[in-house]
Amino acid sequence: MNIHDEKILILDFGSQTTQLIARRIREQKVYCEIHPYTTALATIKAMHPTGIVLSGGPRSVYDNDAPLSDPAIFDLGVPILGICYGAQLMIQQLGGKVEQATKREFGKADLSVQYTEGIFAGLATDAIHHQVWMSHGDRIEVVPAGFEVTATSDHSPNAALRHTTKPFVAVQFHPEVIHTLIGTDVLRNFIFGICNCSPRWTMSSFIESTIQEIRGKVGPSKVICALSGGVDSSVTAALVHRAIGDQLTCIYVNNGLMRIGESEAILRFFREKSKLKVIDVNATDFFLSELDGIVDPEVKRKRIGLGFIKIFEEEATKLGEVNYLAQGTLYPDVIESVSFMGEAPIKSHHNVGGLPEVMKLELIEPLRELFKDEVRLLGLELGLPEEAIYRQPFPGPGLGIRIMGEVTKQRLDIIRQADVIVLEEMKKSGWYRKVWQSFAVLLPIQTVGVMGDGRTYENVIALRSVDSKDAMTADWSKLPYELLGTISNRIINEVRGVNRVVLDISSKPPATIEWE
Ligand code: XMP
Repeated sequence: MNIHDEKILILDFGSQTTQLIARRIREQKVYCEIHPYTTALATIKAMHPTGIVLSGGPRSVYDNDAPLSDPAIFDLGVPILGICYGAQLMIQQLGGKVEQATKREFGKADLSVQYTEGIFAGLATDAIHHQVWMSHGDRIEVVPAGFEVTATSDHSPNAALRHTTKPFVAVQFHPEVIHTLIGTDVLRNFIFGICNCSPRWTMSSFIESTIQEIRGKVGPSKVICALSGGVDSSVTAALVHRAIGDQLTCIYVNNGLMRIGESEAILRFFREKSKLKVIDVNATDFFLSELDGIVDPEVKRKRIGLGFIKIFEEEATKLGEVNYLAQGTLYPDVIESVSFMGEAPIKSHHNVGGLPEVMKLELIEPLRELFKDEVRLLGLELGLPEEAIYRQPFPGPGLGIRIMGEVTKQRLDIIRQADVIVLEEMKKSGWYRKVWQSFAVLLPIQTVGVMGDGRTYENVIALRSVDSKDAMTADWSKLPYELLGTISNRIINEVRGVNRVVLDISSKPPATIEWE
């Protein structure tokens, strides 16, 4: 049996927590996919979902232009769980009524459960009140025929409902968020008790089936992969290598904008431990000349990105005929999430984007079903070292966008030394894995200082450390003063050309994580 034979389909109505629903289901070792609410009925049928979840969403089901899924999904004979907006939509489409509530319910609420079966199976009958998390301004007013109420809260007399003969369940609360203490039970009961799924989607089953898929697709062709030293490309390379061995060649372009030692460590691992073929191109001088005199952040990013494509293509051409490019695209990048606010790109991100078109290569994206934390588990399962797996994110354009103003050899030396000190101290104090990212930024100004008896007029380093879950939003890390003091002292004492360290205390938005 294929591991994708059983799957839960999540129809997305634009909730902030849709991805969380997917993660919570996958934590139960059941595969699931997110698709927009507009997905056609025929497409849904072709997926053969074992169960369907209707997500929450920011709109009201009674709006004229409310996002509606095809009501015929209720005739598919597939179990359906509606969450918040999804619950209201189910109820409205099956004959009930949803109206604006006089009191909005936002945050923690006490749920009183009437039946301890179905999604509430196994919950204590006497502990009548269960903490759940609500976020809604509308509520279900009229229960449609065939449904019965299974739970209530202070402000939602119809907080959970079920159909008496069909496998349809509606919950006003959000089982996917951590503050819903019975959330895991509710989701488990739905996927195992109602949909009859079995917990088969494990990392080792994923590796096995992906290896077969890659072999089937590639045949005897050659595959290339751009290795950056980051988690995604490393795991991609390790997985593809396990599938097709020497048919894979990795290309590592050293753009001279990397941190000290990091890429070398991962290259050493791949070459020595897993005998992967890696071509290592030192293009430092090329990139430095491309960046000569450039101060505009977007121009820097574009030059680094295009430069990468040029070098990569040159190396790949030397390999003869290659048909495939393996790339570490992750699930959050491929989900066609529903957004009701059009977003303009803030910065152009350059990794291997553009390569497949330029080189007319077909893509192999073995991680495109996975979330970041799943990629990490996969990496560990494939035997990659923990330091590589739990590495903080590092931008494709590297230190080039952490030097404000012109990128020169001398300024790269300064940022590298400061950066190593930040990393060393973060690791030593145990903070490295507690924060999302921590790094040094070299500012384009000089300030006056005094060293010994003499006046100095030297560079300023800004320290940036942020906490985040997905890099979409971030807050500055509340690092201990002692640690900040140590980092500052070491940078000023050990890095020639720096006489001042400042701390960045901006959140994202309105700032971004990187400075350029
Ligand atoms: P910003 O600065 O946009 O960064 O808040 C969000 C996250 O993305 C990383 N970043 C990049 N990663 N290529 C990448 O692979 C890039 O061009 C790039 N620019 C920013 C950044 O480090 C943070 O984790």
